[in-house]
Amino acid sequence: MRVDRNTVVVVSGAASGLGAASARALAQAGAQVILFDLDADRGAAQAASLGAQFALVDVSDPDSVAAALDQVWQVHGALHVVVNCAGIAPAAKTVSRGAAHDPTVFARVVGINLIGTFNLASQAAAYMARNPPQGTDGERGVILLTASVAAYEGQVGQVAYAASKGGVVGMTLPMARDLAPSGIRVCTIAPGLFLTPLLEGLPQEVQASLGQQVPFPPRLGKPEEYAALVCHIVDNPMLNGEVIRLDGAIRMAAR
Ligand SMILES: NC(=O)c1ccc[n+]([C@@H]2O[C@H](COP(=O)([O-])OP(=O)(O)OC[C@H]3O[C@@H](n4cnc5c(N)ncnc54)[C@H](O)[C@@H]3O)[C@@H](O)[C@H]2O)c1
Repeated sequence: MRVDRNTVVVVSGAASGLGAASARALAQAGAQVILFDLDADRGAAQAASLGAQFALVDVSDPDSVAAALDQVWQVHGALHVVVNCAGIAPAAKTVSRGAAHDPTVFARVVGINLIGTFNLASQAAAYMARNPPQGTDGERGVILLTASVAAYEGQVGQVAYAASKGGVVGMTLPMARDLAPSGIRVCTIAPGLFLTPLLEGLPQEVQASLGQQVPFPPRLGKPEEYAALVCHIVDNPMLNGEVIRLDGAIRMAAR
């Protein structure tokens, strides 16, 4: 799908990290970008720096997503691309010091990373299906999901996170199949280790040591590299129903 000034894009988790970089890249490509995030201060500042709009959205709440998408449709009358980057990654083991994993924490991680992704993707698809078909393929929309290499190699303490991201991986193909008759594509990126506020909080030596675990290039990924893949997936109509690892060939060890 070609991106130009008529392209309407929603990015969740856009106040920070991979979502912010995606919003920036798509805005620079000329799209009208609406940033969804729970963090109002950083989201609004990020949107202002891009000349874009911000909406306070909790993706885990279907009503919050519905209200924001309704507003996007009322203002723009179209929705072409949705990039799902909202996510959290608290660490906890299945059993720690004799106590079972807090089920509310497990449910919260799944509620944001998996159900939140489902809420935004499914509701966005219902709007995208109303777009007139574009180009020779008759495309109506592109939905990007964000998993993690933890979907395949969850580490110690990542039981909830890995379960949530495994769900995102599992959702990719059936969602692409469901939406194919509407001309809507669905792809997932499974990032390895990227330098976002999540990792920027770690001491320099820990960041460097994490980066050295990546076979090549031996460093942390840049959010712009994630955003570049987002833009390519939007552009390339043959990419559909696929999960793409973006990880410099890292395979995470147990810890
Ligand atoms: N950074 C990495 O190395 C890495 C690796 C693999 C996967 N990921 C995934 O990429 C995505 C983005 O990660 P990041 O590193 O940019 O993290 P980040 O913490 O920098 O950004 C996440 C954003 O999501 C927002 N958010 C959290 N819960 C939300 C909710 N319920 N509704 C709306 N917004 C919400 C936060 O406010 C934040 O702005 C996440 O899904 C993460 O799991 C990141």
